[in-house]
Amino acid sequence: MALWGGRFTQGPAESVAALSRSVDFDWRLAPYDVRVNLAHVAGLEKVGVISPADAITIRAGLEVLAEEIASGDFTFNESDEDVHSAIERGLVAKVGEIGGSIRAGRSRNDLVVTDFKLYLIDHVLEVSGLVTELIHAINIQADNYKDCLAPGFTHLQHAQPITFGHELAKHSHALLRDIDRLGDWLERNSVSPFGAGALSGSGLQPYPEVTAESLGFSDVAGNSIDAVSDRDFVAELLFDLAMIGIHLSRIGEEFTLWNTSEFGWATMSDAFSTGSSIMPQKKNPDIAELARGKSGRLLGNLTGLMTMLKGLPFAYNRDLQEDKEPVFDSIETLMILLPALTGMMETTTFNREKISAGVLAGHSLATEVADYLARRGIPFAQAHEIAGACVRVCEVRGIGLHELSISDLKEIHPRLDAQLMEQLTAEGAVASRSSLMGTSIASVTGQIAELVSENNNAKRWIHSEKERFSGMMNL
Ligand code: ARG
Repeated sequence: MALWGGRFTQGPAESVAALSRSVDFDWRLAPYDVRVNLAHVAGLEKVGVISPADAITIRAGLEVLAEEIASGDFTFNESDEDVHSAIERGLVAKVGEIGGSIRAGRSRNDLVVTDFKLYLIDHVLEVSGLVTELIHAINIQADNYKDCLAPGFTHLQHAQPITFGHELAKHSHALLRDIDRLGDWLERNSVSPFGAGALSGSGLQPYPEVTAESLGFSDVAGNSIDAVSDRDFVAELLFDLAMIGIHLSRIGEEFTLWNTSEFGWATMSDAFSTGSSIMPQKKNPDIAELARGKSGRLLGNLTGLMTMLKGLPFAYNRDLQEDKEPVFDSIETLMILLPALTGMMETTTFNREKISAGVLAGHSLATEVADYLARRGIPFAQAHEIAGACVRVCEVRGIGLHELSISDLKEIHPRLDAQLMEQLTAEGAVASRSSLMGTSIASVTGQIAELVSENNNAKRWIHSEKERFSGMMNL
């Protein structure tokens, strides 16, 4: 159904209809469009543009339509340009001509952006919930391995001993920041653009704040031209989602590496691995690899949207129709990826022996030697040189730092003594990193307790935001 045509002598060419049609993807907005229409009918009734009797009829029609959309009994057809035309067609089919009065005092320009925001708020909370589930799985694994010694890497080279729980738990920190960002997004963007009309405000609807409130928004836009043009909320969200994707890609990369036979640290369960069509022996970490790969499209969606917005005149331009598919894709990608990655995280088993085996490789205790001397008042630059000399001797002799004898040490520097040798262990190195953020078992235990409490706070936040916006979602 076309929402315009009076001034035209002919309908759009087939190619034009195909180009301008958005209903195939914007149908996702259908339940939100009905919700906004319901709030709008209440507003129009309040100012007398729709009579109370007609308002009852229209409301009943919209409510039935909502049920039919949910059950799949009502959907778009070939003649619908976009979700808004499809909903109006459905309403008119149910209540007759009077259904056309919902178009009073609003434009698709403010309607589409309102529907879109409601959809995004709803889905931001869903994605946040899935992120909390992944954090939960990481926290459990981190707790299981908080006392497992592991080599810590920089430049993918052995660097210093750490605990494997510390290695795993870092991902929860990154993901909690993602949820925090989504919370900021929600706070900033809970502003209703409805009532902006085409661009100048509505001539028939003087109380947009009432509609905004009934939809669950905390505020109403301050400038109608900005309200129909603003897509900052889409760009910001695409960034937030891309950042989640990047964090997942980094988990994916680690798990892929740890799962190699060279590392042998991680074994993924069969349910979270895939096979090869030619090599019968293969068991591949495809979930981890897809986590790594999907980040590319999430980043592409952000870049595409920003590029479309650049240089765009204010108020509505049809270019803006291109705002939806990237974010639908980012949300749907994460909604598929996150549960799979959570499952992989929950079911992967780690091999303590193999993880701990390399803890002293690459002279990873060299910093301990330097720290030992620094604690005894030797300037760190000098201590660093002396520890470097120890490494040089070990390299020549093909031994580890902990294998140097007391006489070897004395020969390198008189301040190196038996007490150093006692402390020169991976356990000692780890135990000495006892600040709140450090890798000692006690520190990691505290960090995990904090992560669990922050994740519980995030879950509570999601729950209360869902309540706050329930007016928006429920008819
Ligand atoms: N399908 C359009 C979109 O997604 C709806 C708004 C169309 N408005 C217009 N004036 N043509 O942006």
